[in-house]
Amino acid sequence: MPDRTNAACTAAAILLAAGKGTRMRSRLPKVMHRIAGRSMVGHVLDHLGPLGLSCAVVVVAPGMDDVAAEVAPHPTAIQAEQLGTGHAVGCAKAALGGFAGDVLVVYGDTPFVGTGTLQRLLDRLRQSDNPAIVVLGMRPADPSGYGRLIEGADGGLDRIVEHKDATDAERAVGLCNSGVMAIDGAILWTLIDRLDNRNAKGEFYLTDCIAHARRDGRRCAFVEAPAEELLGVNSRIELAAAEALFQSAMRRKAMEEGATLTDPASVFFAADTRLGRDVVIGPNVQFGLGVEIADDVEIRAFCHIEGARIERGATVGPFARIRPGSVIGEQARVGNFVELKKTELGAGAKAPHLTYLGDAKIGAKANIGAGTITCNYDGFNKTKTVIGAGAFIGSDTSLVAPVTVGAGAIIGAGSVITRDVPADALAIARGEQVNKPGRAKRFREMQKSKSNKD
Ligand code: UD1
Ligand code: CA
Repeated sequence: MPDRTNAACTAAAILLAAGKGTRMRSRLPKVMHRIAGRSMVGHVLDHLGPLGLSCAVVVVAPGMDDVAAEVAPHPTAIQAEQLGTGHAVGCAKAALGGFAGDVLVVYGDTPFVGTGTLQRLLDRLRQSDNPAIVVLGMRPADPSGYGRLIEGADGGLDRIVEHKDATDAERAVGLCNSGVMAIDGAILWTLIDRLDNRNAKGEFYLTDCIAHARRDGRRCAFVEAPAEELLGVNSRIELAAAEALFQSAMRRKAMEEGATLTDPASVFFAADTRLGRDVVIGPNVQFGLGVEIADDVEIRAFCHIEGARIERGATVGPFARIRPGSVIGEQARVGNFVELKKTELGAGAKAPHLTYLGDAKIGAKANIGAGTITCNYDGFNKTKTVIGAGAFIGSDTSLVAPVTVGAGAIIGAGSVITRDVPADALAIARGEQVNKPGRAKRFREMQKSKSNKD
């Protein structure tokens, strides 16, 4: 037997994700549903990451190509028919390629089980009493539906009985199976081979491995974690509850780490949002994936920001939409009703109101007047607009890309710029104004005499 007390001992994981998730009523596999912008299976893999596992195999049903793409480069194993959790684990055997170290079994629909908790399970498995299986237990407010952990006379775990198979006395037990367990890989496959489906659901239950290991004279054990951390998602209502729980944890963390949230309950983070110190976020702000915000940035009310980096001291909003590929430089200002897409706004540059900047690079301290639009799309291709440092773009300018405005240039308001503007030049491109003295007055008088005749 390998020396499992060795701290360097490796472990692998089997992530079960083949279940149909019928109660989600979705075309999407259950584990692809998102919490804070990240799929549930993505959350599980995130928590497994720091454990330094030698491998994590994701068990999927046939046709779940989107799950395989989501978890890549982690390998997947296909469970042709959903015959139960024990059968699903068995399907991962080939993909694990003879691995005989410790095996963690986790569920794709139980997204919050943290790295520390998983490590506790592995640590317990490696203690000197040498348990064959360590199960992660919990005491939910309502235990109905869960498997119950039945303790042995030795204080260890004797067996797990599924709710449907349990007697009234067993159902009175509050200690429940979260589904997560750590198993001695040296005996895992012999335990799986011995499972049968003679039970209420007609399934091969992974949980029956405990009774089999006990029959072989092996100890089994459990560790407990808070039910909130072990929450499983089976329906859209539970998905919303999981989202709410995750958001409130992220808000708390943001504030603990030095951000001010004026109205925390109305700020929605993505799982990977990164905030610097002394960031101030107003009410009703939503972050998509891939946002990084430096120190001293202010995000005012009603902004939607995704895939963007916002550098020190910048101000964004209210009512700004920042789309992927955007960088807002130090001390830059993006005001109300401004949309940025794949646009770099240089340090100290300003786009204070009513502007669309797409596929653009704006130099430091440039000023983008109200109503400026980059015409970056001709129906077929996207092209770039480059604006030099210190340039001044007058209000209501259309910049027909590809086009470059040199540093220090000034564009007259209302211009349609179709050709490059040299540095320090003044460009005006609009119909010339004609004033016709007295014509307005005459027009009014004509209208009046017409209506008198009617
Ligand atoms: C399982 C446990 C139960 C525990 C509960 C916690 C068993 C027999 N029961 O019950 O003790 O309290 O989880 O939520 O293990 N899956 C597959 N292939 C299958 C069946 C399931 O991949 O053939 C996956 C599902 O996608 C899901 C997980 O395994 O991620 C759990 O399956 P589910 O059917 O929800 O198990 P429960 O009946 O809830
Ligand atoms: Ca379940």
